[in-house]
Amino acid sequence: MSTAANSGSERGRPGGAASGGAAPIISCHNVVKRFDGKTVLAGINLDVYAGETMVIMGGSGSGKSTLLRCMIGSITPDEGEILLFGKGTCGLSESEMDEVRKRFGILFQSGALFNSMTIAENVALPLEEHTDLGREIIDIQVKIKLELVGLREHADKFPAQISGGMKKRAGLARALALDPRILFYDEPSAGLDPVTSAEIDRLIVDLTRKLGVTSVVVTHEMDSAFTIADRMAMLDKGRMLTVQTREWYDALRKTPEDKARALSTDEQLIRQFLRGDAEGPITQRRAGSSYAEDLLGGESVARPAPSVESTRSIG
Ligand SMILES: Nc1ncnc2c1ncn2[C@@H]1O[C@H](COP(=O)(O)OP(=O)(O)O)[C@@H](O)[C@H]1O
Ligand SMILES: [Mg+2]
Repeated sequence: MSTAANSGSERGRPGGAASGGAAPIISCHNVVKRFDGKTVLAGINLDVYAGETMVIMGGSGSGKSTLLRCMIGSITPDEGEILLFGKGTCGLSESEMDEVRKRFGILFQSGALFNSMTIAENVALPLEEHTDLGREIIDIQVKIKLELVGLREHADKFPAQISGGMKKRAGLARALALDPRILFYDEPSAGLDPVTSAEIDRLIVDLTRKLGVTSVVVTHEMDSAFTIADRMAMLDKGRMLTVQTREWYDALRKTPEDKARALSTDEQLIRQFLRGDAEGPITQRRAGSSYAEDLLGGESVARPAPSVESTRSIG
């Protein structure tokens, strides 16, 4: 595979990586994170440019959520640096970080709505907490956000009264409340049926276009990844294998068997992951590791290699 396609967004979206050398809106430099002596992120480099949708992929336990949590400042890397909007975030105090947090929205796996509040009240919450806007303006803002996610007529329902897909939409409306420049999503379609999941994917693409936000989406769902990504980053056991355009990944996915043998080991590994093939380097690596390693993990960047099953079904 040539890496010529590594030059960024080629879908003509504003501010993509190809747009004339603009500084990245998010920048990870050599990010290392260890938990209990185990390296979970082994020196990650990743730049995300304004207006693009970056999808972070990888098997279960590869470090996707940990990387996302480092980016949003909910955990601090042990080494390396993260810049948001051009400013380093690792040394910030909690109150300084709170100021940065107002400029991005997060959609957690569960939607994380307050069950005792209506959908509209949930969406209004960040506006009440972080702005001095009056009631009327807040109500208008809430209506706009609910309209954006297609939930305006459900404003007065409680979370228990709406479906899983609608809860995700409501969570998204709340993430949008403060007009963020960046949206972070962790497994946005987890737990949804395929049709609802496709609707959420379409909504992510729609919002990116309409609002011009930058999106970072963690997912292990290949269909989602290929629907929403401008560029895709592939993590494996805490290592960033490659960051490329969606088109590059698509070409790799479609590389026929006879040509696949000429690919590098990493490319073969990514190809197996993208295709969900039962045979390939992921499976071989698993078969080659000892039982103890498989159970406990090795010493440094050690996770049992994900089985093809788990890469497809677990986040
Ligand atoms: N707070 C934590 N304490 C200890 N280990 C953690 C913690 N968070 C994540 N890990 C470990 O880090 C590895 C990567 O986890 P995670 O980033 O959640 O993976 P992914 O989102 O790709 O499935 C896993 O082995 C996980 O058990
Ligand atoms: Mg995760």
